Parts: sequence; C-alpha cells; structure tokens
Amino acid sequence: MGIVAEEKKLSRLTNAGPDDQLRAILQGSDFQDYKSPLFIAWQLNSACNLGCLHCCEEAGHSMPDEMTKEQALDFCRQIADLDVPYMAISGGEPLLCPHVFDVCEFIRDKNISLKIETNGEFIDEDVARRFAGLRMRSVQISLDGATPQTHEKLRLRGDWAKAVAACKSLIKHGVNTEIVFVPTQFNIHEIGEIIDLAYSLGVYGFYTGKTMRIGRAAQNWDVICPSEEEYAKFFEVLQEKTAQYEGKMKVYYYPYDVIEELKYRLEYPSASLLVVPNGKVKLIGPLPFICGDMKKQSLSQIWENYKNAWKKSEVIEFTKKVIAEPKLLAESNNWIEI
Ligand SMILES: C[S@@+](CC[C@H](N)C(=O)[O-])C[C@H]1O[C@@H](n2cnc3c(N)ncnc32)[C@H](O)[C@@H]1O
Ligand code: SF4
Repeated sequence: MGIVAEEKKLSRLTNAGPDDQLRAILQGSDFQDYKSPLFIAWQLNSACNLGCLHCCEEAGHSMPDEMTKEQALDFCRQIADLDVPYMAISGGEPLLCPHVFDVCEFIRDKNISLKIETNGEFIDEDVARRFAGLRMRSVQISLDGATPQTHEKLRLRGDWAKAVAACKSLIKHGVNTEIVFVPTQFNIHEIGEIIDLAYSLGVYGFYTGKTMRIGRAAQNWDVICPSEEEYAKFFEVLQEKTAQYEGKMKVYYYPYDVIEELKYRLEYPSASLLVVPNGKVKLIGPLPFICGDMKKQSLSQIWENYKNAWKKSEVIEFTKKVIAEPKLLAESNNWIEI
C-alpha cells in the first residue's frame, strides 16, 4: 500500500520470516544510529500500460531522465554493500522496464529479500517460471475488484482476467504471491468477495488499507474516496475475514490513513528510503521533499541526509501544515530539494 516502514532491530528483520518482517517493519524506532536503511522502496520506472484513477505515482510515460541500467545496477551494488536487508520494486509498471530482471537477479544474488509490485498483466507462464527461479520474497499483484467490471472501472485499460491469470501462473510455479486491493467508492463493497477469491486462488497474503490521497488519487479524490460509513463497514468485514482465514491465508490491513501516518512519522521516521525512477530520493511518499540523488551522491550520503532532513524546521512545519490541511497532499509530486 505504499506505506513506508521500518523495524526495531536489524537482526530481527534478517532472521525473521516474511510475515514477521512486515509486522516488524511497520513499527517505529529510533533509527538515528543506523548505518543504513532497513528497507528501500524503489519505483524502477514511470511507464505504465494502465491509467488507474487512484494511481499515487501518476504513472503513464517514462521520465526523460530515468536511471540507466548501469546506474540502476550501481545503485543495487551500493544497497548490497550497505547490507540493506529488504527491498520492494515497484513503478510505474516494473515489468515494462527492460532491465527489471537484471536488477532482480542482482538483488537476489546478494541474498537481499525482494518483493516486486506489479499489475500482473505481463506475467505469463514463462515470466512466472522466471520469478520462481529467483526465489524472491514475493510477487504482489494488484487486484482492485472481485469482478472485471469493478477492477477495470478503477484500473483504466486494465484486464482483470490477466491479473487473475498472473496469480494462477505464479502460484502454479511456487512463487509466494500476494494480492493488494485499494478501496474506492467503486470497489469497496467487494472486499469480502475479493478476500474469498484470493483464498480460492491460493495466494499467500491479502493486503489492503485506506487509499492514499496523493498523485492521481488526490486529483480524483471526490470521485474515488469512500465515505466514513463505507470505511467502517470495510474494516468490519476485514476483521471478520481475518478471523475466518486465520492460519489459512494472511489477511493484513493497515487501519491508518496518510495523515495519521504523517503524524506518526514526525515522531518516528521510518528507517527506509523511497527512490523514484530518476534516482531522486523522497523523504516519504506523501511529502514533496527530495533528500538526495543517486546519480550524484552515494547511498550512505543520502541516508545521512535523510536522517538530518527529518530534523529540519522546513520539513516539520510543512508536515504540520499538511496534517492540518490534507488538500496539500496534492503537492506530494511537486518535488522540493532539501
Ligand atoms: C503504484 S503501483 C506500481 C506497481 C504496479 N503498476 C501496480 O499497479 O501494482 C504499487 C501499488 O500501489 C497501489 N496504489 C496505487 N495508488 C495508490 C493509492 N493512492 N493509495 C494506496 N495504494 C495505491 C497500487 O494499487 C499497487 O498495489
Ligand atoms: S497503480 Fe500501477 S498499474 Fe495503475 S497506473 Fe499506477 S503504476 Fe500503473
């Protein structure tokens, strides 16, 4: 769900199983002594075959200055040198990036836990087999409806059948497969059915939470944002389904919205970095601040910038303004270098 996260002790993260890693990574901690981040979220590219109404990245076309394959692999080398234990690759649609497998293979050769987030539309039997060979932590497929109508209403140009077929191929080849569902006015009523569908497909985990009001979601907010009543019912169903599938399938939901997340992060920044396709490093998704540039600085320099940035009055004051006035979240992709 694009939620930036962290963990209390590096040893816990590296020794734990995938669920423990996620649970732990969402807890806050004092990260100022850490020599490196515990988690890197990397938007590998900006190109996308879909035009989702809720897209937090406003993805579609490539940025003119995206990192080259060499720059991307150099970034991976630095991630490995700093012993970062866990990363997630997203986009845009990462499977449209010509060097996505070079990057995944490099990361897995270094034994870094890796998740890839995709709309699933380019995963056929061959791609599923290739992912299986990589022994990744997981492949996460976005499925925003229990029916093609709802999924495709939100995911413009999307094909529900292809996303479902991707799950089946991945599961058939033994890939740890997860489904993510983003609730909006169009699909929130299908939450129970989609969890049942996820279970019938045999996925490892189902994840959801409140939609973030950033990117295209901020532009379309009045059309897509569920009401308080719809969210109340949604969380009720989630509670029931979590109990129903306990021990059979992981159902995880994050109950907080972006504003609640920002309040928490002001006090407990996460030990994680968010890298966008041109190598710039964001402080956190919902804020416009850029604290580094992988094309000009080393990862360890950027990590120090990141830690210092959270102490800057400019950041603290702006974050408080956003908390008071959530409409300002629409500024999150108008980057400000700090
Ligand atoms: C930005 S997409 C990139 C990967 C791929 N194109 C996909 O759709 O899965 C990564 C994840 O973020 C989710 N997402 C997009 N916009 C969101 C928003 N406004 N709030 C919460 N999650 C969002 C997507 O549904 C997807 O599961
Ligand atoms: S959510 Fe994913 S598939 Fe949809 S437009 Fe954004 S990047 Fe593309």
